[in-house]
Amino acid sequence: MNPPQNDTLLRALRREPTEYTPIWLMRQAGRYLPEYNATRARAGSFMALCTDPDLAAEVTLQPLARFALDAAILFSDILTVPDAMGLGLHFVEGEGPRFSRPLVDEQAVASLAVPDPERLRYVYDAVAAIKRELAGKVPLIGFAGSPFTLACYMIEGGGSTDFARVRRMLYARPDLLHRILSVNAEAVAAYLAQQVAHGADVLMVFDTWGGLLTSDSYGHFSLAYIRTVLDRVRRASGVATPTIVFTKGGGQWLERIADTGCSAVGVDWMTDIGAARTRVGTRVALQGNLDPLALLATPDVVRTQASAILDAAGTSPGFIFNLGHGIVPSTPPDNVAALVEFVHQDSRSRRRPAAVGQSAASRAGTGSSGH
Ligand code: CP3
Repeated sequence: MNPPQNDTLLRALRREPTEYTPIWLMRQAGRYLPEYNATRARAGSFMALCTDPDLAAEVTLQPLARFALDAAILFSDILTVPDAMGLGLHFVEGEGPRFSRPLVDEQAVASLAVPDPERLRYVYDAVAAIKRELAGKVPLIGFAGSPFTLACYMIEGGGSTDFARVRRMLYARPDLLHRILSVNAEAVAAYLAQQVAHGADVLMVFDTWGGLLTSDSYGHFSLAYIRTVLDRVRRASGVATPTIVFTKGGGQWLERIADTGCSAVGVDWMTDIGAARTRVGTRVALQGNLDPLALLATPDVVRTQASAILDAAGTSPGFIFNLGHGIVPSTPPDNVAALVEFVHQDSRSRRRPAAVGQSAASRAGTGSSGH
């Protein structure tokens, strides 16, 4: 397959030098964009949007039409996989995802199975449609939830702040949790391999809730299954598709995540990005880690915060600018525009010999960081 015209992200994932730091944003297509809300209204619901390949392609491309982002990410959701397993996904307005048939008893766990691939055909069709419309401009990121994060929603039946049912099961019936995780790992691996077969250039695993676990449990119940997924995808697709693993709240385990053989480790905003680089060395790329709420301030604040991350991340190859978690719906699009432009310009200028008298602060446009 031909490399994309803008392959900055792919080179950063291989830790090769790039002219500037590539940037894309988790949830870059979403409710902060009026054009997204218009398309979603036209579709009727979030799931109607996900299941229509042309509309999914349309919203995937919306942020790229506004901002010079270095990647597109498939518009879909991590919960499509348990939905295909028959759990009955729906979204309750203002409350987030719900399953009508969560895994409430031993019987439900025993009958859980890897879904018929046909039930996820709409996602593969969306990947193919997006690839066609992207016409090779930037790479396309495919994704899935980690087996553990999917299990959180499947057992709880929806969102939660502490996922107490899952954590109780982990101690009371680890055998049941391991059975769910094994099925999930197989389902996710097949799902990701199909995304690659239909054109995804990069794969990202979202482990949004792994950070709720103890250090020991994180290894046994989340990371081990992420490793299985990566191994199977590598074997199934036969090509070395770059992978990004993101555990929110996983800052203390970055070395262990890097050891899975992923290409990049996603870093949340609670983690020191400079220390992260020192800890993982040069064996992986890093991606992150602006606090998504910084985007609610002014463009000047956004630039100052972004500049601090570029300072800390350093100029050695293998850094991808992103948020530390998904963009929030109240984000002003103008702040996103300021961020993307600043990251490109500032990181470009850092790669050139510094002009006399030009400090990081004056590049950030603040002139007053005073250290
Ligand atoms: O990043 C992108 O632009 C790609 C699309 C994407 C969505 N969800 C679209 C979406 C991706 C990568 C996801 C992943 C996802 N979904 C995760 C992992 C990453 C994370 O954010 O932690 C999780 C946990 C989910 C489950 C999920 N889907 C929740 C909890 C919600 C509701 C939360 C909310 O913000 O309201 C969703 C719905 C969802 N997925 C929306 C979008 C754009 C909002 C739905 C809408 O338009 O009403």
